[in-house]
Amino acid sequence: MKLRHALIASSLALAFGLPTAALAQAPIVIKFSHVVADATPKGKGAIKFKELAEAKTKGRVKVEIYPNSQLYKDREEMEALQLGAVQLLAPSVSKFGPMGVRDFELFDLPYMFPNKEVLFRVTDGPVGAGLFKKLESKGITGLAYWDNGFKQFSANKPLRTLADFKGLKVRIQSSKILEAQMKQMGANPQVMAFSEVYTALQQGVVDGEENTVSNKYTQKMHEVQKHMTLSDHGVILYAVIANKKFWDSLPADVRKSLDEAMTESTRYVREIAQNENDDALAAVRAAKTTEVYTLPESERQVWRKAMLPLHEQYAPVVGKDNIQAIYKVIGDVAAGKK
Ligand code: LMR
Repeated sequence: MKLRHALIASSLALAFGLPTAALAQAPIVIKFSHVVADATPKGKGAIKFKELAEAKTKGRVKVEIYPNSQLYKDREEMEALQLGAVQLLAPSVSKFGPMGVRDFELFDLPYMFPNKEVLFRVTDGPVGAGLFKKLESKGITGLAYWDNGFKQFSANKPLRTLADFKGLKVRIQSSKILEAQMKQMGANPQVMAFSEVYTALQQGVVDGEENTVSNKYTQKMHEVQKHMTLSDHGVILYAVIANKKFWDSLPADVRKSLDEAMTESTRYVREIAQNENDDALAAVRAAKTTEVYTLPESERQVWRKAMLPLHEQYAPVVGKDNIQAIYKVIGDVAAGKK
């Protein structure tokens, strides 16, 4: 009789979420919130991390993914992480400014990264590690850098020369360097959460935006943008970050498995990111609603020249040493040095 009562009590407790001894076995839940679609480099990376984390911890950890700003928009998700309402995020590094860490805007400097090899060497080296250190005092642990790809411009008019940007209202992420970039091009930048961009483009609140093609396509921006210019003028890079208190409180063996899962998912994102963007570009072309224009090298040099002064102008904000370190990596990669 006693046993029956105990069984009923514990199933009731489980059903109503009450604490019992059985709940001591309950998995550690990691809420992973992000703002893009599942079918993007970040979306797929999150799913890969979930699979690996749950398998490696043999179910002791359960990862719940909330994509597409389902839970929070850009700024709110940062606050939610700091408050511990979610445990994991992978925001674009262009979004740390509002929390007072502007150093990550280093990656927003236009025409800074000639290729992904340079980007990976920088994120994997002392610059990447140094930036993660800056997050600790904000209650955040940096776990990995995930890449997406190079940014392209779109609008409802052709964007072929800098003159085409004059007075154009362009949505940007919350980065002062991106603001400066757009001003340097003669445009009128407007900070806006990612989840609001499609509607803003549709309703003409803004005229254009810059993003990777995978982000544009999965948000259906090609339906509301008649022109896209392949300019590769900057990158979208993510910092996978955890609530520090939560991360530090994990049992050591669980954290070790999660670190492994993160390393493997980072490798995976690097493998798929380019393909995701190539496939998205093919899909945009096939939709025939957007004319795709490739910026010729001669014009690219004109844009680059116009934007380069920002590197020096923003050195005091993002660190002269960091900029020099990237220039050195660029030289090493060009010279074929390991
Ligand atoms: C954006 O806001 O445009 C991007 O940062 C979205 C993302 O997370 O890739």
